Amino acid sequence: MINSLENILEWYIESGVDETVGDIPFSLEKKAVEPQAGAPVTASSRQATTNLAQATIAARQSSRETAEKARNLDELKELVKSFDGCSLKLTATNTVFGYGSEKAKIMFIGEAPGADEDRIGKPFVGRSGQLLDKMLAAIGIKREDCFISNVLPWRPPGNRTPTDSEKAVCLPFLKKQIELVSPEYIFILGGSAANSLFDNMEPISKLRGRWLEYKTENGKIIKVLASFHPAYLLRNAGQKAKAWSDFLRLKKNIC
Ligand code: URA
Repeated sequence: MINSLENILEWYIESGVDETVGDIPFSLEKKAVEPQAGAPVTASSRQATTNLAQATIAARQSSRETAEKARNLDELKELVKSFDGCSLKLTATNTVFGYGSEKAKIMFIGEAPGADEDRIGKPFVGRSGQLLDKMLAAIGIKREDCFISNVLPWRPPGNRTPTDSEKAVCLPFLKKQIELVSPEYIFILGGSAANSLFDNMEPISKLRGRWLEYKTENGKIIKVLASFHPAYLLRNAGQKAKAWSDFLRLKKNIC
């Protein structure tokens, strides 16, 4: 037993974990804690993977049950705020819950709050949010008529990429927001959010530009468009034309 604990610790150290918070270890660096593809499989890494998988399954079950209790968005927000199954909460300043019109026809979904969102407590208020505002204005949609949320309600430390287990644990909260807002359209910002919602690994370059469908837990079919994340567009201005055509496609449909 002691030996296996030592092995787990050793593996955490080797894989860059430099802090433990709650049940799930994490690294303050940008790299994910989960085993990397191609890394040699040893008994200790297998054990650590098993432990992480078990912790994820338990936390996911808990987030599902927590989300199910909510009868409206206010209740869900309070339940998410008091949820302790995701260690990201311990390093975040705020819980960044979805924000906007509860009767929105369109819901926008990103990946995770950044530094500005964490400080202010609202989604897409930083540079990405400003670009999103510009794109919305260009197609004549007001932000206050939409509902904007993220897969994760807590900022990963140092803006590192969220791990699969963090996304899996937080996904029930997003799915419940979708169910409660019940929009006609979902516009997904970026491949990571699209992959989480559809549980696939398709690159955003393949997912974007065509209508997709999302089925809620209670059977409602919602039309979905996915496009590039605004942060990606800020770094790759050459892709803005494609994103623009995705926004125009949305506009054409809602009119
Ligand atoms: N990026 C996101 O994915 N979400 C935010 O809220 C801000 C930046």
